Amino acid sequence: MPAEPQKPSPAPDGPRHVALIMDGNGRWAQARGLPRALGHREGVQALKRTIEAAPTLGIQCLTVFGFSTENWRRPVEEVSDLMGLVRTYVASDLKRLDRAGVRVRILGRREGLPADIADIVSRTETSTAHNDKFLLQVAFNYGGQSDIVDAARRHFERQRAGEAVGPLTEETLGAGLSTAGGPPVDVIVRTSGERRLSNFLLWEAAYAELVYQDILWPDYGAEALADVVEQYRRRDRRYGGLASGADVARAAG
Ligand code: FPP
Repeated sequence: MPAEPQKPSPAPDGPRHVALIMDGNGRWAQARGLPRALGHREGVQALKRTIEAAPTLGIQCLTVFGFSTENWRRPVEEVSDLMGLVRTYVASDLKRLDRAGVRVRILGRREGLPADIADIVSRTETSTAHNDKFLLQVAFNYGGQSDIVDAARRHFERQRAGEAVGPLTEETLGAGLSTAGGPPVDVIVRTSGERRLSNFLLWEAAYAELVYQDILWPDYGAEALADVVEQYRRRDRRYGGLASGADVARAAG
């Protein structure tokens, strides 16, 4: 990210918000005869390159899948490597992100995180809360299904406590998700050739475009992200309506 970044002016055709499933670290390492941990470490470098490139492409928000609620099933050493990366990434990069005007938000359950990581998470959010040039959302200990369940639970808890929360609707439930308040997700990208959502942003995916790229995450950067933008601009987003041209033709009679 440049030292004195300008707030990216939204590209007229978007996307404004890109969400990334950063897949393929393990395969990248394996292909080089390296331990998986090194793949994740290279993954952090790719993340830095991608964050830097995003504003130059008119993107205002990135959401990345750092650790899912299912990733606890991985070998204990790998889980501990991933936690270690958060510690070093935040320690080495937080000041730079803050100077660049990036607001960092962590999506996911705080319970179950090691105490020092939970502390890093809340300090990071608090110290960057005033920034408004760019929004970086890191899904960590996150699962789309549990996020929806948590939002519904909170709704009914508030109702039981006597708050006038109204009926459960798309709006009231959506307002309780960990992504609430952020821009709508325009496109969800998965790298490494796998084609599934793996419990990422299930609710938010309703009208997002999906882009699958064959590149392994540690090789990611400006060029791959520019390709996402290009693919997105070729899509015709209809939100359940007709093609943009057809809408106009129909309205004209
Ligand atoms: C998927 O690759 C990647 C992950 C489970 C973790 C992604 C983490 C990073 C890119 C590091 C930066 C993260 C943070 C939170 C700063 P995989 O291990 O499933 O790869 P494989 O499918 O090739 O085995």
